[in-house]
Amino acid sequence: MLQTLCTWQEVERYLERSKGILVPIGSTEQHGPTGLIGTDAICAEVIARRVGEIADALVAPTIPVGMAEHHMAFPGTITCRPSTLIRVICDYVHSLARHGFERLLFVNGHGGNIATVNAAFYESYATAPAPAGANVNGFRCKLVNWWTSKPVRTLSDELYGDRCGSHAAASEIAVTQYACPDAIKQAALDPPVAPGGGFYDAQDFRRRFPDGRIGSDPSLARPEHGERLVAAAAGAIADIYRAFIDES
Ligand code: NI
Repeated sequence: MLQTLCTWQEVERYLERSKGILVPIGSTEQHGPTGLIGTDAICAEVIARRVGEIADALVAPTIPVGMAEHHMAFPGTITCRPSTLIRVICDYVHSLARHGFERLLFVNGHGGNIATVNAAFYESYATAPAPAGANVNGFRCKLVNWWTSKPVRTLSDELYGDRCGSHAAASEIAVTQYACPDAIKQAALDPPVAPGGGFYDAQDFRRRFPDGRIGSDPSLARPEHGERLVAAAAGAIADIYRAFIDES
């Protein structure tokens, strides 16, 4: 159930039976020569939608831009500074909490968001508004990264072994191929498996990883892998969502 396609009466009725909501959050950043700029937002959204179907949960509008400062040496990347993203997330959370949502599960598509999203959760607790008549009591926020559950890791290992990588990963490219089959890209990858390792600022990232990939061989990605990865991720996240809803 997509919030964007609901009327306000449908949201009101939903709130009578559930206080939970899924919030996909992605990023708008380069993903190597064959990866879409929107990869992280696309992955978060397609998986959150599937979780919504499995767990009968409302899915909030995707937050499409995240903290991608380290990708800014590549054109097409858009970033929010951590301080901006914290404010955006706080306003999302407080808006939903004022209507009575009490369990907000953020489905994340971008590793670079993790620190900022967790900081935003604490900021949202510290600054929760309490206007007359608003229900802001006891809302809770939780972050889940789609790629970290055991079923997803097991499947990635089986499909790609140590060539999955950590950015422009074969797994995330496969999910976008499944979600957006009309936008599958082909390009020569040299070297086939990108170097791994860490980085500092945006210029340093591009110097170390000239085509944008880290540790990956996304030529291994296939749309049918993406379908299996979405199912694995959504099943695991649906379990996390149900436990989150039920916890005292
Ligand atoms: Ni990504």
